[in-house]
Amino acid sequence: MSVNITAIYGSPRKDGNTDLLMRSFLSGMHSAGCKARELYLRNFSLYPCTACGGCAETGCCVLQDDMDVLYGYFEESDVLVLAAPVYFYGFGAMTKAMIDRCQCFWVRKYRLKQDMNKNRPSGCGHGILLSVGGSGGSRNFEGVLLSARYFFDALGMSFDHHLTYGSVDESGAILRHPTACAEAESLGRKVADLKAIP
Ligand SMILES: Cc1cc2nc3c(=O)[nH]c(=O)nc-3n(C[C@H](O)[C@H](O)[C@H](O)COP(=O)(O)O)c2cc1C
Repeated sequence: MSVNITAIYGSPRKDGNTDLLMRSFLSGMHSAGCKARELYLRNFSLYPCTACGGCAETGCCVLQDDMDVLYGYFEESDVLVLAAPVYFYGFGAMTKAMIDRCQCFWVRKYRLKQDMNKNRPSGCGHGILLSVGGSGGSRNFEGVLLSARYFFDALGMSFDHHLTYGSVDESGAILRHPTACAEAESLGRKVADLKAIP
């Protein structure tokens, strides 16, 4: 079975810590024979949700921008990997805009009772979050973990795995973390075998 995998790079910082973590994860996937579609949110032009209610009856967003491309991938992905840093204890604006624009999926799932998995080759969807933050605080990732849970839920995906690393601030600092990149690579290898999920 060919598995459809989408990797979203959610940081505005090119070659920063979440970019590097994602690349470790994907190298694990590649070594297990899987390839992902890689999308850099910073190259996309996305309006924030305007709460216009345009999706409330149809489950389709009425705004027209690069989100149209992402909607298609979200519908058909078996695995969606999001790598994004913590900003003010939540997701940064680019990633949050993408998530808010998925209100139309929430409508499909909870109001229109649509089958969210009908376009996925494996018949089910799996969400994975990779995140880093500069602070070492124990509650640092609570915000992004909660948002990710309800983001993946709206897409009809289970939230299967996450890796989070605190005290990782300057660009490239993740490479000096004792375990992060190896853990991301290992998770990539594991996820490459869909049978291993969760
Ligand atoms: C606007 C802004 C807000 C931030 N807020 C937080 C925060 O609340 N908690 C935290 O641990 N780190 C915070 N950081 C630090 C980033 O999470 C950290 O630098 C991270 O390594 C960036 O990942 P990246 O290189 O993938 O962009 C913030 C950084 C910026 C630019």
